[in-house]
Amino acid sequence: MSLLLTGGMGYIGSHTVVQLLDLGQDVVILDNLSNASEKVLERIEEITGKQPLFVKGDICNRDDLNRVFTEHQIDAVIHFAGLKAVGESNEIPLSYYHNNVSGSVTLFQAMADHNVKQLVFSSSATVYGEHNLSPLIETMPTSATNPYGKTKLMIENILFDLAKSDSEWSIINLRYFNPIGAHASGLIGENPNGIPNNLLPYVAQVAVGRLELLSVFGDDYDTPDGTGVRDYIHVVDLANGHVKALEKLSALSGCYAINLGTGNGTSVLEIVNTFSSVCGHEIPYQVVPRRAGDIATVFANAEKARSLLGWQAEYDLNTMIEDTWRWQSSNPEGY
Ligand code: NAD
Ligand code: UD1
Repeated sequence: MSLLLTGGMGYIGSHTVVQLLDLGQDVVILDNLSNASEKVLERIEEITGKQPLFVKGDICNRDDLNRVFTEHQIDAVIHFAGLKAVGESNEIPLSYYHNNVSGSVTLFQAMADHNVKQLVFSSSATVYGEHNLSPLIETMPTSATNPYGKTKLMIENILFDLAKSDSEWSIINLRYFNPIGAHASGLIGENPNGIPNNLLPYVAQVAVGRLELLSVFGDDYDTPDGTGVRDYIHVVDLANGHVKALEKLSALSGCYAINLGTGNGTSVLEIVNTFSSVCGHEIPYQVVPRRAGDIATVFANAEKARSLLGWQAEYDLNTMIEDTWRWQSSNPEGY
């Protein structure tokens, strides 16, 4: 099978490329490197002994897309490319709507024109909005509170409409919970630009001495220790979820939303304590007020992925944090 991975140089994409190459699939990456380093390619080759084809290009650019679909016989697309910082999306919403929504529509149009109608899309648990109670299940109503989340919801809805209009399409919207961890080699991992927004990269940078102190956003939530609870999932498990989704696509018609989570919730303080025991020293932290837009508890009902894809998460929290620490401590400044 020959696969196009948009955004395949990024955090989740690069781990998925490794799984696919290990399975002997042909992979073409289209990435504009807006949030990725070209060094990822060498690292992928070091892990797998193979080089994926890399095209530097943009999903918003019809010529870049035509070139990829003309020069390569693509069977299916995994669409990771997008901007993903919630805070930034409030500041520059037009960039988010352009890059994520217009870029996706341009990609889907190019796919239709080249008769490629199998797609896996990177959605997010953010589409469950603020009002559903965990465990979150795919049949719950969706909503979004910030431009980033709205782009995910819009793209999901576009894909539901597209599949309704033409039964040749088979589409899976994978709703990721909180991906963390890194490849066990320590060669690829999450490499945020600037100060991290998300918990794990922040804790990892405190642990390695790049940042001084973690701010814990609120300890007065209605959770066992008062801090926010999330469903952290190993990025390699997440990558395997894409492999399973691809295997299923050719037997499906229509558009399906599927959660990729573990089904377990972990609090901020549990993360901090596990990280301390893995790295062997204390993680200094202070409790500060809640972050606007956060909710107390988010975790998945992971049953649909199990029944429809035959997938479930395998790695436990300790392994996720050991792998995060191996990546961070061997690449303290990132790539
Ligand atoms: P990432 O930023 O590491 O990867 C995204 C990649 O897309 C980057 O390599 C970037 O250079 C590329 N890209 C961005 N805009 C592009 C464009 N217009 N054309 C071509 N390439 C472009 O992010 P990630 O964490 O790997 O996330 C991948 C996808 O999963 C994103 O769509 C993100 O919204 C979604 N997602 C991520 C998380 C998470 O916590 N990491 C959670 C839920 C959903
Ligand atoms: C964030 C995004 C969400 C996105 C998800 C995965 C917001 C409001 N939401 O969610 O849309 O889908 O990432 O990319 O940004 N925390 C701290 N200190 C920190 C950072 C985080 O205490 O420095 C806490 C948070 O309050 C939360 C937990 O850690 O309880 C996890 O936070 P984070 O990693 O940002 O993920 P989400 O809040 O789930």
